[in-house]
Amino acid sequence: MDDPFGALAVAANGPMMIVTTATKTERGGCLVGFHSQCSIEPVRYAVWLSKANHTSRLAFHADYLGLHFLAAANHDLAELFGSQSGDDIDKFTECHHHIGPWGVPLLDGCVNRVVARRTAFLDEGSDHICFVAEPVEARLVAPDVEPLRLADVSDIEPGHQADDRPTPRSERP
Ligand SMILES: Cc1cc2nc3c(=O)[nH]c(=O)nc-3n(C[C@H](O)[C@H](O)[C@H](O)COP(=O)(O)O)c2cc1C
Repeated sequence: MDDPFGALAVAANGPMMIVTTATKTERGGCLVGFHSQCSIEPVRYAVWLSKANHTSRLAFHADYLGLHFLAAANHDLAELFGSQSGDDIDKFTECHHHIGPWGVPLLDGCVNRVVARRTAFLDEGSDHICFVAEPVEARLVAPDVEPLRLADVSDIEPGHQADDRPTPRSERP
């Protein structure tokens, strides 16, 4: 096998999420496969956003993130937020949403979601930045819903490849 690590990551078939955020002047969001709870007490959640993405640049300037846990029925939203970039379009004009607590744009099509306050980020020189956040509002409407998983979105071509990040590779937003 050429790439056992890559094969392991695919075999794990993790659940997919859409992360949204907004500054005073801009809103954005993207499909995310890299995410996990990362602390119990205090509770913390981590998402890894690509330096190439519009969403990661916004997240530096925003205090809150919307974490949408996708259901199997959310493929259309995954495609919109995973294959298009906020560098080119405003994705929120293409889907039902509302402005939630702390000004976070929330997707009406995703019933299980969390609003989280960004507490820290880690840039260790790789192509993604780890944003750590404190859940401040959680909404669980469908506890038994089947998640949308990595294998379900293999048809989606990312709006940005990780190596789309700017040259020279300044880590400053
Ligand atoms: C299966 C899949 C998983 C992805 N996982 C991530 C991820 O964990 N973090 C991330 O920043 N982008 C991820 N992306 C890429 C973004 O969702 C995609 O490039 C998006 O169009 C970026 O939008 P933006 O420029 O508006 O932020 C993934 C895309 C796909 C198709």
